[in-house]
Amino acid sequence: MERIQSALAKARAARDRKMQASKPGGQSAVESGPWYDLAEIPLNPKVLERNRVVAMHPGQAAASFDLMRTNLIRALRSNGWSRVAITSPTQGCGKSTVALNLAFSLARMADTRVLLLELDMRHPTLQGILGLEPSQNFAGMLASGTIDYSQIRRLGPNLAVGLNSKPMDSPAELLSATRTADMVDEIEAKLQPDVILFDMSPMLSNDDAISFLDQVDCALMVAAADETTSTEVDKCGKDLGKRTQVLGVVLNKCRFMEQEEPHAYPE
Ligand SMILES: Nc1ncnc2c1ncn2[C@@H]1O[C@H](COP(=O)(O)OP(=O)(O)OP(=O)(O)O)[C@@H](O)[C@H]1O
Ligand SMILES: [Mg+2]
Repeated sequence: MERIQSALAKARAARDRKMQASKPGGQSAVESGPWYDLAEIPLNPKVLERNRVVAMHPGQAAASFDLMRTNLIRALRSNGWSRVAITSPTQGCGKSTVALNLAFSLARMADTRVLLLELDMRHPTLQGILGLEPSQNFAGMLASGTIDYSQIRRLGPNLAVGLNSKPMDSPAELLSATRTADMVDEIEAKLQPDVILFDMSPMLSNDDAISFLDQVDCALMVAAADETTSTEVDKCGKDLGKRTQVLGVVLNKCRFMEQEEPHAYPE
């Protein structure tokens, strides 16, 4: 029995070492193919820091996101999942900030390709948070019905993003369309990311996020301490739970923390 436990512990430690082997600026094993054909855009670290994107490099500021990604990747691997919706009960809880930090944190793991797609089409903010020129229109590409890989750009060896520079009215029809689901399937098949994060709309404002939930494996709910009420968390959790697996709630904007970092409470 002890030998089995020790073997299991060793296997777990070896797996963890591989997961933790962060390689900032490092390279994945395979460096050719459609993923590497995506155009890469440089980032300004000062803009990122100003906008609370702190998980590009390992360190204290990234620690809570690293913990979150480790819990997340374990849940994904043990269930054979890859698609994660990030949503919240209401606007402004920190979905986009959490999605970006989680994406950067995941992308530091060895051989983990992360695709972050902005599906909060009414209120696109990721380009602004990243300090990029408003040049991408991933939602417009979905609406056109034709995949254009120039609408997906890499931010590093393991992270690619599909962003929007203009808002779209009433995107629920687009988000629920079979053609949209087929296009996301095709993008996944071609780029073969290990994880796809979807930055979604808030759940309680309209039916945009709900319209796409059939296409994801699981969801994280971001709640803002002192802003989100327990009734909102409850209602959002119930609505999410009807359509997908709720992995947990990320409590963001905690004033009582020394540093304002989010904490995840996986279920
Ligand atoms: N941990 C935090 N502490 C303090 N402010 C934060 C934190 N996380 C995010 N913010 C700020 O809260 C605001 C909303 O964040 P963000 O855009 O990430 O939220 P969102 O849920 O995506 O919003 P929206 O619903 O408008 O898309 C931003 O100004 C952001 O800088
Ligand atoms: Mg947002």
